[in-house]
Amino acid sequence: MATETVPAAVEPEAPKTGPQETPVIVRELRWEAAGVVSVLLARPDGGRLPAWQPGAHIDLLLPTGIVRQYSLCGSPSDPFAYRVAVRRDAASRGGSEYVHAFLRPGQPLRIRGPRNHFRFEPADSYLFVAGGIGITPILPMARQAAAWGASWQLVYAGRTAASMAFRDTLGALAPHQDAVRVYPGDEGGRMPLEALLGQARPGTAVYACGPGPLLDAVSDGAAHLPRGTVHVERFRPRAGEGTRQDAAVEVVCARSGRTVNVAAERSVLDALSDAGLPVAGSCRQGVCGTCETRVLEGVPDHRDGILSEEEREKGDRMYLCVSRARTPRLVLDV
Ligand code: FES
Repeated sequence: MATETVPAAVEPEAPKTGPQETPVIVRELRWEAAGVVSVLLARPDGGRLPAWQPGAHIDLLLPTGIVRQYSLCGSPSDPFAYRVAVRRDAASRGGSEYVHAFLRPGQPLRIRGPRNHFRFEPADSYLFVAGGIGITPILPMARQAAAWGASWQLVYAGRTAASMAFRDTLGALAPHQDAVRVYPGDEGGRMPLEALLGQARPGTAVYACGPGPLLDAVSDGAAHLPRGTVHVERFRPRAGEGTRQDAAVEVVCARSGRTVNVAAERSVLDALSDAGLPVAGSCRQGVCGTCETRVLEGVPDHRDGILSEEEREKGDRMYLCVSRARTPRLVLDV
């Protein structure tokens, strides 16, 4: 184990101590659509919860030990409650199944966050694209755009009309009849994505959340738009990520003055964690952002579903649970 000097360029930051947990109780469970229930969470003492902005999500720590990430879909102007919506997933690994089958009003839970890797920025106008439960981060954005009096349009696809949550809420927000268009698959609806993106004017920001193929189609269809215009939030990393050959990497932890050799078959997060270094993880799939770490030297091999192409090119941060290195050595702010 070697010792390294902290590079002079490192700016002091608070040491990473792991995400803080907040105790909450379930105030309400509400059916939003077939197979979709929303959960209203509040502090047991009725106090304020941390502020958040559209695009943010929380970690829900279930009593079974399972941790799942859910976008906040309520209103940021309510400081006393968070609302998340959960689709019952037929292939559930225990998260959505627990929420639907066992969660009850009054039940105590713990949460972490909010965190936000899908930030909603001011723009001239907006095109929102949602698929299925991907409507959850988009809903507060549409609400914000409506409150600003901005020009916006929202297109929303789902497998069936009955399974599409928040349609009435969206309809009430719409500034005109065409602002919200829904495309239920069981009614033959097909989102005219190519045409919509092709018509997008300069200055229009595109925000999209939903299944991978929909988001890939958004990225492809928006290739002509200026960089930084398209913002997507993925449920899991892009297909093909993680299929590259893994190689061992030497990781220098500048803040701790320690070096860890990460074997090809181990994640950087696991290797650093096992070495007792102050790193934290949650989803371990490259989607929640808990393990985000600054890169001080070396070139990361990004395999997450969070960073945009521009952010990947910058190479100044990485997600330790899935990403590796294109150089034999990385220096991290750990
Ligand atoms: Fe969720 Fe790494 S633990 S992104």
